[in-house]
Amino acid sequence: MLKFEHVGMKYKTLTGYTEALIDVNFDVDDGEFVTILGPSGCGKSTFLFIGTGLTKCTSGRAVLDGKEITKPVKEVGFVFQDHLLLEWRTVLDNIIIQGEFRNQDLKITREKAMELIRQVGLEGFEKKYPWELSGGMQQRVSICRALVHEPKLLMMDEPYGALDALTREQMRVDLEKMWLDKKNTILFVTHDIDEAILLADKIVVLTPRPGQVKEIIKIDLPRPRNMKVKESPAFLAYRKRVTEIFMEMGILHED
Ligand SMILES: Nc1ncnc2c1ncn2[C@@H]1O[C@H](COP(=O)(O)OP(=O)(O)OP(=O)(O)O)[C@@H](O)[C@H]1O
Ligand SMILES: [Mg+2]
Repeated sequence: MLKFEHVGMKYKTLTGYTEALIDVNFDVDDGEFVTILGPSGCGKSTFLFIGTGLTKCTSGRAVLDGKEITKPVKEVGFVFQDHLLLEWRTVLDNIIIQGEFRNQDLKITREKAMELIRQVGLEGFEKKYPWELSGGMQQRVSICRALVHEPKLLMMDEPYGALDALTREQMRVDLEKMWLDKKNTILFVTHDIDEAILLADKIVVLTPRPGQVKEIIKIDLPRPRNMKVKESPAFLAYRKRVTEIFMEMGILHED
């Protein structure tokens, strides 16, 4: 579905260039859940921007359904690193903005938004404003906003980065449930090794900046991956493997 072919990105800066990505190659299959794991600043957000046409790569190309991406892609949902909700719009109005941008029937968009609000456990909060919600609730609204137009491709940029461990664990379980139901294609960026393994069909591990693919690891664990999976020998073996890769790269060390 989505292909990154020799993708490189050099940002122009006041004093020269910052090389964010070099020769990144990998494919994302239709309906696949791919997690991207890498240290801060290695180009993960850049990568999602390129995959949605929000940023044009400076070498190589990104290809969606056989066509090179040259402009922003419409049939995508994006959960940004910050929730980016509009403070002057209610929860419901923040979600239906997608329908407004796309000139869709707002009655249908509103019905879908209400259904999503129910699914993420925010029923009764649809008329509240973002500042009346907790961080986890705000992030849930931004997930609804990314899903309401039923995109085939969903980009999630560290959506749970600002959440506490308990909320994060529950949101992971809920996201998997939703994905098993809808089977859209997801690219999910994270710094968290357990989260990367538990969500993924495939993990793309990136090197420190400039980001390159260090390794691609297929994850073969039964779904749904409940809390118990973390105790299974297969999960522990994946965690050991990924930790070793980060130790090899010098990102994790014991002294
Ligand atoms: N618009 C920009 N102009 C110049 N440099 C940029 C721009 N956006 C990103 N960069 C640089 O590109 C590199 C990669 O940035 P990016 O935001 O993609 O990293 P990241 O892996 O998402 O980091 P984090 O995990 O901290 O979110 C960084 O060194 C950053 O300084
Ligand atoms: Mg980022």
